[in-house]
Amino acid sequence: MTNPELISLALKARENSYSPYSGFKVGAALLTAGGKVYTGCNIENGSYSVTNCAERTALFKAVSESEREFSKIAVAGGKDEKPDGFCYPCGVCRQALSEFCGEDFEVICAVSEDEYKVYRLKDLLPEAFSL
Ligand code: THU
Repeated sequence: MTNPELISLALKARENSYSPYSGFKVGAALLTAGGKVYTGCNIENGSYSVTNCAERTALFKAVSESEREFSKIAVAGGKDEKPDGFCYPCGVCRQALSEFCGEDFEVICAVSEDEYKVYRLKDLLPEAFSL
């Protein structure tokens, strides 16, 4: 699965974003070590703190289907119909991903299929907490 293909799935998932409060639509596509993709969108709530980010929606869908190893995630977000800037995973999502994702796990922050930046999770969350 190429980065542009994964980004395309994140952009598609973004269309399902439920974000009536912020108007900020986020989509994510998470690739497992075995080559399957789980997508997610942000799901907001009138009790704001209940909101779930797109990355965690994708991660929790995958883990609940018994997946435990992942290679990369693509994330795209913004207020307009198409993202107009880079959307970086929040701190909570970085920590959630770090539970399951190793040193080489890649985070692809995308504006479009041909405009994106690739990071290592360990660089986005140095010295991550683990038990
Ligand atoms: N959001 C995500 O889905 N992922 C992130 O990494 C950052 C923020 C969502 C949460 C909320 O619905 C909206 O973006 C604005 O914060």
